[in-house]
Amino acid sequence: MADTQITIKDSGPFVVKGPITLTDAEGNDFTIDKEIVALCRCGASTTQPFCNGTHRKIEFESIVRSPQSESA
Ligand code: FES
Repeated sequence: MADTQITIKDSGPFVVKGPITLTDAEGNDFTIDKEIVALCRCGASTTQPFCNGTHRKIEFESIVRSPQSESA
């Protein structure tokens, strides 16, 4: 089984690597022809659900760390 990894970029998108199916609330799939996609986390992209770089323009700030990193 192939692994899929989601990385939360500092003040940026979710970067998804690996095979995924992305489906909207009505059950319609998005066509994804890449092994890596960036999903908007700031809410400002005009190409939702994909990141288009607008997070930089609006100076989106969000740093997320796993609680596991504190126990290491
Ligand atoms: S995270 Fe990049 S445009 Fe929203």
